[in-house]
Amino acid sequence: MTTLTTAPAPGTPDATAVTATTAAAVLDLPPVLPVVGGDTLVPLVDGRRVGYANLDVAASAPALQAVADRVARVLPLYASVHRGAGYLSQVSTALYETARRTVGAFVGAREDDLTVVTRNTTDSLNLLAGCVPADPVTGEPGRVLVLDIEHHANLLPWQRVTDATVVTGGPTVAATLAELDAELRAGAAEGRPYALLALTGASNVTGEALPVEEVVAAAHGAGARVVLDGAQLVPHRRFSLSETGVDYVAFSGHKTYAPFGAGALVGRRDWLDVGTPYLAGGGAVRRVRAAATDWHSGPARHEAGSPNVIGAVALAAACDELAALDPQQVRAHEDALRRRLVSGLGGLDRVEVVHVWDDAVDPVGVVTFTVAGYDPGLVAAYLSAEHGIGVRDGRFCAHPLLGRLGFDAGAVRASVGLGTAGEEVERLVAAVRALVTEGPRARYDVVDGLWVVVDDPRPVPEGSGLEGLLATAALGADEAFGCLPGDV
Ligand SMILES: Cc1ncc(COP(=O)(O)O)c(C=O)c1O
Repeated sequence: MTTLTTAPAPGTPDATAVTATTAAAVLDLPPVLPVVGGDTLVPLVDGRRVGYANLDVAASAPALQAVADRVARVLPLYASVHRGAGYLSQVSTALYETARRTVGAFVGAREDDLTVVTRNTTDSLNLLAGCVPADPVTGEPGRVLVLDIEHHANLLPWQRVTDATVVTGGPTVAATLAELDAELRAGAAEGRPYALLALTGASNVTGEALPVEEVVAAAHGAGARVVLDGAQLVPHRRFSLSETGVDYVAFSGHKTYAPFGAGALVGRRDWLDVGTPYLAGGGAVRRVRAAATDWHSGPARHEAGSPNVIGAVALAAACDELAALDPQQVRAHEDALRRRLVSGLGGLDRVEVVHVWDDAVDPVGVVTFTVAGYDPGLVAAYLSAEHGIGVRDGRFCAHPLLGRLGFDAGAVRASVGLGTAGEEVERLVAAVRALVTEGPRARYDVVDGLWVVVDDPRPVPEGSGLEGLLATAALGADEAFGCLPGDV
């Protein structure tokens, strides 16, 4: 039996922590904040419709209702930014630049840090890769150290543009820290110091992370900077550049409850001011002649073209919402759901829960597992078709890690967030229990590499058109059937 702790409600600082145990207590946990579409219904193969259990928020999180509301309020003011003389252009410019400040402040930007608005984490890390200084002596590309646990977005940009070294993580946090430290010291001792260490803030496979302050101390001690891939951290934990000493953080709006196409890179100004302009085009330049171009410094250097004003406003709105929450409440909510997933799934025969380190502390709400005898794609198709649950299957853009841990055939990932209710987690545990005890009810086959239901009776998304899809999702609550643990 696992003991779960939920936080006191915000505004009740003297409330003592509530101790809850197993399924019964988690079942009634409500979402922390409302998300758009949180009550959307989806069809099952047996003809019923159930509330969609979105347990794939690590891939993309639904919009917070407050984010959608802010976007709706701002849209009438939307006009061209930066170079328009019209009144609304100036309003839009102010909205965009205010959003930039909000986003930077949300991740504890230091006074001299830059906040570049990007598309997402991948974009941010590719941008930074072009700004890592070359070795001052040899002129060779700068050295970057990275672990093999990283998402491809925090691996491939370094391999393509910089001189990247990939270190294989150890079986424990302590061993992994020691390996990083040794490699950093070796680089410095050989006269080939690392310029940068690129580290995930939380693994997108297991939610685990290294203690960031210790990594920063080791890196800075060897003369290297640290960039944190905050894609899975920033939406779930309070993070501060100034408090941790991390030099750069990259994150994505669509994982931070703001799915309008903006992300951010925030950090030290010097590299960004002189690094390769990320996009060549209007807005990034002071003066252009046929023979020479004078590039801007500051964020404009990397933001050529018309910026994503609404995306930036949405991301700032999400930052405002998250900043207003009690971080302990967020942590306790997601931790309770995560613990229940780990204990509920891990307690089932034939189910293995994946982890990187035995001694990891404070993982975020991402739980990856396999079911012996069932392909991960089949498990994911079953969860959707028979239980209305959305999860992710595959290798999660983390092929080196999955390979090292022995999961080259992939796995299934469930992830939770602010909008997740305990019922959804319980539904997943019950559905996997039903799979291992009774097997699937529908028949499944692989078509074009994907597991699908044979003779699937559900409306085909591509064939239903927007109105058809909206009608599917808009059925009233009376027509919805619950799909609770006993109902599988
Ligand atoms: C840890 C991590 N880093 C980077 C990314 C890439 O994020 P994006 O697709 O928003 O660029 C992801 C996405 O899943 C991720 O989980």
